[in-house]
Amino acid sequence: MRKITLINGDGIGPEICDSVVKIIKASGLEIDWDIQTAGADVISKEGVPLPERVLNSIKHNKVALKAPVTTPIGKGFRSVNVQLRKDLDLYANLRPCKNLPNVKTKFDNVDIVVVRENTEDLYAGIENQVDENTAESIKIITRGASERICKFAFDYAVKNGRKEVCVVTKANIMKLSDGLFLDSFRKVAENYPNISKREILVDNLCMQLVQNPSQFDVLVLPNLYGDIVSDLCAGLIGGLGVAQGANIGKDYAVFEPVHGSAPDIKGMDKANPTALLLSAIEMLKYIGEYFYAEKIEKALYKTLHSGIFTADLGGNASNSKFTDEIIKNLPQ
Ligand code: NAI
Repeated sequence: MRKITLINGDGIGPEICDSVVKIIKASGLEIDWDIQTAGADVISKEGVPLPERVLNSIKHNKVALKAPVTTPIGKGFRSVNVQLRKDLDLYANLRPCKNLPNVKTKFDNVDIVVVRENTEDLYAGIENQVDENTAESIKIITRGASERICKFAFDYAVKNGRKEVCVVTKANIMKLSDGLFLDSFRKVAENYPNISKREILVDNLCMQLVQNPSQFDVLVLPNLYGDIVSDLCAGLIGGLGVAQGANIGKDYAVFEPVHGSAPDIKGMDKANPTALLLSAIEMLKYIGEYFYAEKIEKALYKTLHSGIFTADLGGNASNSKFTDEIIKNLPQ
C-alpha cells in the first residue's frame, strides 16, 4: 500500500483533512497515511514547530499532503511552510487556477497556471534591524534558481499542452535582481521554440488580470510576486476555498491548498475542503493514480453542478454535508 505523509495542520486543517481522507478512502484507493503534526501546537512538546520527524517522513515517503499551518505575524517562529520548502528544496510552487463548474465568478474561461519560484527573493525573510527606526529586507535572486524555475515552467507547458509562458517582473525598477530573473527566462526560453513567450511588468499584470484574465496561460514569477498574484488568481476562480497548490522539487513534492488555517471558522464545520481535495487530486496524478484522481474529480464536479456549495461560495452546506455529497457522487 502506498504510504503518504499527511500534515494535518491547525485551524481548519484537521477538518478538511478528515474530509479528503474520507473521500479518497470511499473512492476505493487504499493509502497508508503517515500522519505528522507540525506548527504552534507541537512547540510545547517538541521545542520546534517543524520537528525532524516531519522532514524524515517526507524524505522517506517522497510525497506529502499538507493542510495549512498558522504562522504568527510580526514575531514568533519562522513559517513552517517556508522552512519546509527550503529544507526539502521544493523550488517550484505550482498553482493552477481554472474555473470550476457552476461556481459563479466575474469571468469565464480562466485557466491560468501560476509557477512561483519558492526558495529565494524577499520571501526568504532575510531581514535586519538596522537601528530602532530602520529595518531592511534583503532580496536575493540567483541565476541558478531563476533558470531552474523558468525551465520548470516551460517543461510544465510542454507536458500539459499549454501554449504560452509569460514572465512577470519589475525589471524596469529592480534592474539587477528582477533583471537577472528576466535574463534567465530569455536564456531558457531559447530551448522551447514551440512555446510562445511573453514578458510583463507585475503592476500591469495585476491590472490585466482583473480586466481580461483569459489572455494568460502559464505565468512564471519570482517568489513574492508569485505569492501575491496567486491569491489574486484564486479570487478569479471563486476564492481561497477552491485554490489548489503544490510545492515540487527534484526529489520530493508537497501538495497543499493556497489558503491558510482560517482561524475565524475553525471548528464550525464551515470550511470548504475543495482546495485541499483538488491538491490531493493533483497529488494522485503525480503518483500515477490517474483512475482515482479522475473518479474523485468527477464526483466533485457533479456535486458542484448540482448546486451544493459551502458558505464561502454562497451555499449553505456544511463541510460534512459537502463531503458526504461528493462521496455519494463517486462513480461506481
Ligand atoms: P486564510 O486563508 O486562513 O483566511 C482568509 C479568509 O478566507 C478567511 O476569512 C477564511 O475564513 C477564508 N477561508 C480560507 N480558507 C477557507 C476554506 N477552505 N473554506 C472557507 N473559507 C476559507 O488567511 P489568513 O487569515 O491571512 O491566515 C490565517 C493563518 O494561516 C495565518 O497564520 C497564516 O500565516 C496562515 N497561512 C498558512 C498557509 C499555509 O499553511 N500554507 C498559507 C496562508 C496562510
